[in-house]
Order: sequence, then C-alpha cells, then structure tokens
Amino acid sequence: MKIAIGSDHGGFELKEVVKPLLVELGHEVEDVGCFSTDSVDYPQQAKQVASMVQDGKADRGILICGTGIGMSIVANRFKGIRATLCHELFTARMSRRHNDSNILCMGGRVIGPGLALEMVRVWLSTPFDGGRHSRRLCQIDHQEQDCA
Ligand code: RB5
Repeated sequence: MKIAIGSDHGGFELKEVVKPLLVELGHEVEDVGCFSTDSVDYPQQAKQVASMVQDGKADRGILICGTGIGMSIVANRFKGIRATLCHELFTARMSRRHNDSNILCMGGRVIGPGLALEMVRVWLSTPFDGGRHSRRLCQIDHQEQDCA
C-alpha cells in the first residue's frame, strides 16, 4: 500500500520510529513532514495527508501530533476520511473491523514506541468486517433509506 504519514513537532519522534516499520512491511511511504522538532501547526500536515487519502493518492494515512486529537479533528473534516485516534491495540483493531479506518491518529506524547509499532502492525493487517458496518458507514454521508 501507499501510506502518507505526517506529524507536527509533538509527533515527529514517533513518526521517525514508525516509518522504518512501514518500509520493512513492504509499503511505499510518503512523508509530508514535519522534519524536525521545531514547532509547526498540525493542521498543515493533517490537511496534506487527508487530501492524499481522499484523492486516492495514498491508500491510507498515519497522523501523529502530541495527543493525536488535533490531527483527528482536522482529518475528519474531509469527506470520506475516517480518522481514528487510538491509544491501544483494541481500538486500533476495531477501528479497522467496524469503522474501516483510513487514517490512524496517534499521540506522540501519549504512547511509547513499542505500543505504537504494534498498533500500526494491527491497524495495517486487520480487514474491514463489512456487513452491517458498511450500512452504518453509508449513513455518515447519506440518508438512512439510501443505505441498504
Ligand atoms: C502541540 O503543542 C500540540 O497542541 C499538538 O501536538 C496536538 O497535541 C494538538 O492536538
């Protein structure tokens, strides 16, 4: 898969830990920054990654800020983006199974690298369950009667 990844200064160090894992797993990675711990404004990276996933220029996205909250707020304003803020393995797995998450958000000041790497592995390898969950996702953007 092609994976777009971005962070602000609060997520920079964790982003640098996650990138090699993505490459090791055989994914193509596009890093939209930031590229140091100098302070930046997280909406810039969030908008770039969300646009790439929305436009099909990336299959999935990963966004990391201090808490993951700002990144998820921004990314979820893009239609078709299902950005899920996860801090542990259960929600990382369920965000794929039930929500067909296409952007994983994490907090670089919340979780450590070991947990983050395991979450990324789980999030990348867990398929969407479909079925009733497809109907529910349809209802996010459409009327109930239009979602069988
Ligand atoms: C930056 O200080 C911090 O606000 C940002 O990384 C993020 O946590 C926002 O939600």
